[in-house]
Amino acid sequence: MVTSRALAVVILAAGKGTRMKSDLPKVLHPVLGRSSLDWVIEAARPLEPAHVVVVVGHGGDQVASTLPSDVSVATQEQQLGTGDAVRAGLSALPADLGDVDVLVLNGDGAMFSTRTLRRVMAGHVEAGSLATVLSIDGDLSWPLGRVETLADGSVTAIIEAADATPGQLANPAMNAGIYAFDLATLHGALPRLSTDNAKGELYLTDIFGLVRDDAGRTLGVSGDDPGELLGINTRADLAEVEDVLRRRVLREHMLNGVTISMPDTVLIEPTVTVEPDAVILPQTILRGTTRIAAGAVVGPGSGLHDTVVEAGATVERSVAREARIGAGATVGPFAYLRPGADLRAESKAGAFVEIKNSVVGARSKVPHLSYVGDATIGEDSNIGAGNITANYRPELGRGKQRTTIGSNVRTGSDCVLVAPITIGDGAWTGAGSIVVQDVPAGALAIARARQTNIEGYADKVMDGAT
Ligand code: UD1
Ligand code: CA
Repeated sequence: MVTSRALAVVILAAGKGTRMKSDLPKVLHPVLGRSSLDWVIEAARPLEPAHVVVVVGHGGDQVASTLPSDVSVATQEQQLGTGDAVRAGLSALPADLGDVDVLVLNGDGAMFSTRTLRRVMAGHVEAGSLATVLSIDGDLSWPLGRVETLADGSVTAIIEAADATPGQLANPAMNAGIYAFDLATLHGALPRLSTDNAKGELYLTDIFGLVRDDAGRTLGVSGDDPGELLGINTRADLAEVEDVLRRRVLREHMLNGVTISMPDTVLIEPTVTVEPDAVILPQTILRGTTRIAAGAVVGPGSGLHDTVVEAGATVERSVAREARIGAGATVGPFAYLRPGADLRAESKAGAFVEIKNSVVGARSKVPHLSYVGDATIGEDSNIGAGNITANYRPELGRGKQRTTIGSNVRTGSDCVLVAPITIGDGAWTGAGSIVVQDVPAGALAIARARQTNIEGYADKVMDGAT
């Protein structure tokens, strides 16, 4: 019978990542909106580990500052190799843990899936293994450790590519950087690692040979997704990994009932929610906590960040950040919704319209070429083409001034509403007005110079010119 043992996860993230050529620690480079390290942490979380330790070194404070509060940090002072990194990681675990399995993960393994981690743990526990590694058949040109297994599935050695003979390199079984160990076995073997190898490092992978020497059970669990062998060492790897993860996320949405047209051009971060029967059109990027409700159509060419799109709304060639787009509302083409833009049901923000920190009431429309900032617009109102809420009045003190527009208001084209100002329900403003005083409900405000026609003026000028 398999008894359940506690699980600790140790993630190795102290390496320098020299080949990224970056001031930012390698594991903090964003992949689809989260760091590669976060991807690894999130993949392990569903296994409900009792402890998660991240081993940091290069840029350690910076890495530590990004970690969730339930993750412990261990510092590896010098990067002496992955074996030494695990030693540092274990020092952050409480003593007297009893029987514990340790899942060790390379911190640059953004591609590791929860499914694979579960398979490794299940294989490890079922076989009563002391040291288990995931092996996946990869391309023989890849410089990854080769996993040597016997017919019974036990691992005799992992040979680093730099130390391998041509014969050993012809073995396609590669180490992905996912391991499960019995804690006591690790404690016993780690001090026996040596640096007698091509890189002069303490290789974690040498544990397998040591456990075999002690006649302990080892295990190779084979994986089926060569994608999980992709580590991030260069910016080219970063782009490749992001692309694979991007497609993984899109595929899940599509299987959930979301239509995605030309998916090669669409990016959806893993933190975004999209309900079934939403439609995502080409060249659309959805980031952060964005949520798209059923029946909404987003795109083509739209970028939404932390924005809510309610049922049946459409967002065409537009950009929004921290905005809310109500049910059945239409946005774009070419609208820009900034933080606090709150478009209520069936409202409209049309072409070349910018809206910030404002409510556009139900069925109200801002169809063309306008700036609406720090305003409240009631219901069923129409803002004429080219209107501006002049909200910046430094002479009135810090902060922006508010514009309040009632319901059923009609503003003429090219009006400037100088805040603070209130336009009453049902009021109108004449085209080209600079409105500086409140307009009572139902009134027409006209604030522009009266037109004068000078008869015969053009003919007179032209006569003088000949
Ligand atoms: C390692 C494996 C190799 C495997 C490959 C998978 C070893 C010896 N080799 O090689 O078999 O195929 O991963 O990608 O483990 N790290 C530390 N401290 C150190 C050194 C490394 O924390 O002193 C961390 C790195 O930040 C990285 C991880 O350990 O996240 C792996 O180290 P890396 O140098 O990338 O190992 P590889 O050469 O890729
Ligand atoms: Ca690596």
